[in-house]
Amino acid sequence: LALATPPFAILPNATPVSVADRGLMLENPGFGRVFTDHMAIVRYSAGKGWHDARLTARAPLQIDPACSVLHYAQEIFEGMKAYRAADGSVVLFRPEANAARFNDSARRMAMPELPEGLFLEAVEQLIRIDRDWIPAVEGGSLYLRPFMFANEVFLGVKPSSEYLFLVIASSVGAYFKGGREAVSLWVSEHYTRAAPGGTGAAKCGGNYAASLAAQAEAIEHGCDQVVFLDAAERKWVEELGGMNIFFVFDDGSIITPPLGTILPGITRDSIMTIARADGIELREEAYSIDQWKADAASGKLREAFACGTAAVVTPIGEVHSTDGRFTIGAGGAGQVTSRIKQSLVAIQRGEAPDRFGWVRPV
Ligand code: PLP
Ligand code: COI
Repeated sequence: LALATPPFAILPNATPVSVADRGLMLENPGFGRVFTDHMAIVRYSAGKGWHDARLTARAPLQIDPACSVLHYAQEIFEGMKAYRAADGSVVLFRPEANAARFNDSARRMAMPELPEGLFLEAVEQLIRIDRDWIPAVEGGSLYLRPFMFANEVFLGVKPSSEYLFLVIASSVGAYFKGGREAVSLWVSEHYTRAAPGGTGAAKCGGNYAASLAAQAEAIEHGCDQVVFLDAAERKWVEELGGMNIFFVFDDGSIITPPLGTILPGITRDSIMTIARADGIELREEAYSIDQWKADAASGKLREAFACGTAAVVTPIGEVHSTDGRFTIGAGGAGQVTSRIKQSLVAIQRGEAPDRFGWVRPV
């Protein structure tokens, strides 16, 4: 079904943040706290489809207390970054993949699909109007957050007949504070993230709500992130609260958990593609927590890293659980991890040839 893409009405913010204040806000943006002057918003109504596309001043939304997302959490989102390339142009990394995953998530949550052209148009219009919000700090980028939620005023449990799609943008630096070389993980034994047949592969807000108690447990134990095991056997390593995971072995091979109940990360897919093109043996293979401990102790496992849009590529130094802790390699950033990060970031930032056709000028 080819849905028409409505044109965007462009209504610039009449009172944007001043250049001086913006400069201060971009000095040390952190992650997800600094927002730009505008947002994109499009409405959906059953029978009418997508309509009223606007690029307008970022402002609070008015929603009814019976708005269905507030009760049944019919909500999905995406995360992607725009970078300022060395030549001053602005580029996106594989935004078509985010648009496609957004629609995969929409189908799982019984929400209407969004034409990919409309998704890309909303993101690109917002970047163009707010391009001065890309921080110049090392590792800085504009994090785009497209999302859609159910907006019908009705308390019955059914797919909503009304939705809002929005894109907001946040000027960001590194996701993990403190610039440590490697992060520590807490193995969640009590909580799981996703069961077979559940919503683990969808990027829906509910998955993150369900991860927060486990993440709080990780923080209580002095760790940076929670790592989840599978829900059926409580044995196989799946992913982190907001990142996928890779393991690097002494024979140079790499494995990452297979798809199914995890989020199909675009960073994960990109790393697999780069590694294979560079002649590394890379397998999608289940890896158990017991094997992880044994391989870390024997030295067979040399490195492990987390990856995602927000986290980029982050080395994992230590793993803690109820029965103790273990260190991976020397506990810092390993060589293979550093090389993979470098290759990926260079493509993302337009510093290396775009050998896979992933970079999209805005
Ligand atoms: N897994 C989870 C649960 C995530 O939230 C994310 C972040 O988006 C990822 C993995 C990595 O996905 P991507 O590389 O597409 O950002
Ligand atoms: C992202 O990387 O885009 C995410 O959604 C993960 C979250 C930890 C910010």
